[in-house]
Amino acid sequence: MSDLANKRIVLGMTGGIACYKICELVRRMTERGATVDVVMTEAATHFITPVTMQALSGRPVFVDQWDPRVPNNMAHINLTRGADAILVAPASTDFMAKLAHGLADDLLATLCVARACPLLIVPAMNREMWANPATQRNAAQLRADGVTLLGPTEGDQACGEVGSGRMLEPHEILEDLIAYFQPKALAGKRVLVTAGPTSEPIDPVRVLTNVSSGKMGYAIARAAREAGAEVTLVSGPTALAAPRGVRRIDVTTAHDMLDAVMGRADSADIFIAVAAVADWRVKEVSASKLKKTDGGAAPVLEFVQNPDILGTVAALPRPPYCVGFAAETEDLARHAAEKRARKGVPLLVGNLAQEVLGRDDTTLVLYDDAGEHPLPRSSKLAAARQLVAEIARRVAA
Ligand code: CTP
Repeated sequence: MSDLANKRIVLGMTGGIACYKICELVRRMTERGATVDVVMTEAATHFITPVTMQALSGRPVFVDQWDPRVPNNMAHINLTRGADAILVAPASTDFMAKLAHGLADDLLATLCVARACPLLIVPAMNREMWANPATQRNAAQLRADGVTLLGPTEGDQACGEVGSGRMLEPHEILEDLIAYFQPKALAGKRVLVTAGPTSEPIDPVRVLTNVSSGKMGYAIARAAREAGAEVTLVSGPTALAAPRGVRRIDVTTAHDMLDAVMGRADSADIFIAVAAVADWRVKEVSASKLKKTDGGAAPVLEFVQNPDILGTVAALPRPPYCVGFAAETEDLARHAAEKRARKGVPLLVGNLAQEVLGRDDTTLVLYDDAGEHPLPRSSKLAAARQLVAEIARRVAA
């Protein structure tokens, strides 16, 4: 994944025990193609050495405003010009106070004041320090000044206390940073997504389900969120974590999924049905576990068809812009065209089941009134971003 290719990030570290987590963050950022210039305050060097950060970033690390390696003595200007963002992580109480007042008494603070690029900060502090009215005032001031705050979150703290002020985990900071750079083509839109399989009970210990992993639907929910939408993900049982900033509603059966979707479809601008909804459910669910019989006779199950969630939403008097999915084993174009007409949706996304199930990459083909539009084979997340851009273009038109 090269989500941060061609991005140069100035990573500022201030004094706090959370500095140890930034080692991991720098590795993940460089893995994704970012060039990372680490700048540390003197306090940060008490927790992690500049040598460690230099080894991880593969670049010189700066601490001192008067660093003799900078020929024109203007590290505070040189480092931010051409940078795509300054990311301060961890951002201490003291550093937030400095930033809110525009102080410039060390290299990192001076860089922030002299910046010509966006500034993102990741607060990390004890819960009382975060809750302190002065810190809250400073946080509000920084937001008003256009600074983006990532976190903090709640949980166990290094000091042994529990509460709000904990720094986001490195993978969360990374996800937020990547999202920050994505185009905001769906800003202000409400997007409803279904994902994963549904699971239909047979008896208290057995279910009828399918092999959908939910990866495509989750990738689409993430891509829509990155594009600035408010996203609700109605998910059948999967092993996946909800993408950051996405509201997930867990459901089990097709009927639960229908209820969760219909309760929100009226207020959605876009509905993307990615779930592999079980077509049938067992008519009479046994209240007790079905037992084997001595004669070896297999139980006979009677099935009834489940409601068509996408079709139901598309038939609303004022439906959201509806997007359907079709995973077929053959004859993709014919089945997709038929399904698009039957469900009454403007856009249907097709793929070949054997090429995508359980895998991390996919080839999507879009079908709309204008015909067939194949997208290049890519990771599910890259494909989801392309699809979201295509949906945004159609919705805007
Ligand atoms: N879908 C749905 N509710 C269902 C079945 C499907 O919302 N009960 C949605 C899926 O999320 C997908 C699209 O409809 O977006 C197509 O799903 P698919 O299972 O391929 O279509 P079916 O209608 O089940 O058609 P068939 O069984 O003939 O392939």
